[in-house]
Amino acid sequence: MCGIFGYSGPKNAPEVILEGLKRLEYRGYDSWGIAIISEECKGQSAKSGIKLEKRIGAIGDLTSHFSLNTHHSSTGIGHTRWATHGGISEINAHPHFSTDKSFALAQNGIVENYQELKKDLLKKGYKFESETDTEVIVRLIEEKLVHLEGENVLRNKARLPGGERLKEAIRAAFLELEGRNTIIVLAKDGQIMAARNGSPLVIGINDGEVFLSSDTLSFAPYVKKVVVLDNGQMVSYNGKLDLVDIRSNKPLLCRSERINLKSSKVDKEGYDHFMLKEIFESPYVVSQVVNQDYKLYEDFVKQLKKAENVYTIGSGTAGIAASQIAFYLRVFGKIKAESVIGADIYEYYELLTKDDLMIAPSQSGETADVLEVLEIARKKDLKIASYVNMPGSTMGRISDYPFASHAGPEICVMSTKVFTSQIAWGYLLAKVISGKSEEGKVNLKKLAEVIDQYLNSGRNHDLLKKLAKELAKKQHIFLLGKYQNLNIVKEGMVKIIEGAYIHAHGIPAGDLKHYAITLMEKGVPVVVVLSEDVAKDDVINAVNQVKARGATVIGISSKPHASFDHYIPVPDTGETSAIMNIIPLQLLAYYMAVELGHNVDKPRNIAKSVTVK
Ligand code: BG6
Repeated sequence: MCGIFGYSGPKNAPEVILEGLKRLEYRGYDSWGIAIISEECKGQSAKSGIKLEKRIGAIGDLTSHFSLNTHHSSTGIGHTRWATHGGISEINAHPHFSTDKSFALAQNGIVENYQELKKDLLKKGYKFESETDTEVIVRLIEEKLVHLEGENVLRNKARLPGGERLKEAIRAAFLELEGRNTIIVLAKDGQIMAARNGSPLVIGINDGEVFLSSDTLSFAPYVKKVVVLDNGQMVSYNGKLDLVDIRSNKPLLCRSERINLKSSKVDKEGYDHFMLKEIFESPYVVSQVVNQDYKLYEDFVKQLKKAENVYTIGSGTAGIAASQIAFYLRVFGKIKAESVIGADIYEYYELLTKDDLMIAPSQSGETADVLEVLEIARKKDLKIASYVNMPGSTMGRISDYPFASHAGPEICVMSTKVFTSQIAWGYLLAKVISGKSEEGKVNLKKLAEVIDQYLNSGRNHDLLKKLAKELAKKQHIFLLGKYQNLNIVKEGMVKIIEGAYIHAHGIPAGDLKHYAITLMEKGVPVVVVLSEDVAKDDVINAVNQVKARGATVIGISSKPHASFDHYIPVPDTGETSAIMNIIPLQLLAYYMAVELGHNVDKPRNIAKSVTVK
């Protein structure tokens, strides 16, 4: 979950790269760095060909002290890091220089066999200054260069021109790496090379300029055409874009596809944080779910109905959305759908068959844990559907039925509007399956209006801000829900953990009396989410049980109840009640994060898109 970026063309590379990295910061913001071809020294000795600068912390805070900004350069690469191997330090920040400074390299991924590679390189006398697995790739390329050199001399082969030799060395080194890796390399002659296996890499192309990045959003304002690299492909650019298959070294055609990220404008538009802006976009995303091309669903619904087993799969918040989608498929679609959390599916591998179907909701479409499962599912000929927010994603590209949420960029690491979009989509899909798509659309259109009214009533925010102040002081927070609200309280748990760094625990209301009740005592906060549904009385029973032991009960529901110590009123939206109920929980987590002075859009230790296992 790092972000890599490269540029070559008429614009000023340091500025373009810095802007690109800022748009990639959601992928990690522990440190960042940029390497450019220093024009004044271009063509001179390797020593001065590349200028490189690295910083700890998020970009936004430090650009003023960034000296490369004063240089004009047409070519460079950049990286924003989420630390996996090696602590957060300037030494461990990318890009990393080769020993002779003839090239600089940045990586997004994990070299799973880096210890044995490093051991072998140390034996051969290579030196390391950082703790990263990335530096091992740099030294491995250097070793391949020496080997190539020797080989050419031995076979009295014509010396490959510098750029070709480096490309060949990168290819040879990349084939020895295990794990999901994507690397970008800047050579002192201004050539940029990049190789992909796992973590995403997209190339934006215009006449005379090229952008390389981990996502399309980071260069969207500048280009209309992208080339999306597949695993096992390597690209090089030195005025001309060449693509090869890494294993065979065979040239490949660069197939470009058009993108139109109209809403690629990425700013807070007057909100204090992206998170609040994105929550306020919930009505828009719900209406986006309604305004879809339903022809796309005809064949998909047929496949869904005849599938032997239907699995929904996702990680983190998307995993909870996957569970709610399965819930709606069971309740409204009468489909025996089952959700599995992306990282834990080993026991299913033997059970998957070509008669099964898998549905993956995902914001980025690049989550490694889920991609790994989908790649196995593909090998077993399962039908795959995805519901992805980021255009040009791997999940979208490997799906038989790629659906897009069109929710616009979600910048806050904590997913809010995309989660809402995912579960609204699951509800509508279930209604389409049951032949009630019109009813589903009417309900969602009504829901969008109700959410909009809810969000625009200051009283609702005042209640939640007051509650946030109270809960921000707590060590442990319990959330109770059942039936349609079980995943809602689980997502409320995730939001509170991510935003407030407080331990929260979302549990099935019925389970409470079997274990969690031992923790109930005076003042323990229990947030209860209720709908006017079949489970309501069960949940009220659980509320009375915790009340009897002194807990403080916060009720989120359309009707007050004598057992509530605090009451958060939400409108009753019938079948879509659970989708309405997530909004106050998202706002509560937001106001707790603000109350605690946390970095709301970039909480500590997590990243927006986890493209490594
Ligand atoms: C986590 C994010 O790292 O990855 C979550 O913080 C997200 O918000 C999860 O739900 C899965 O990511 P994606 O892109 O597959 O939705």
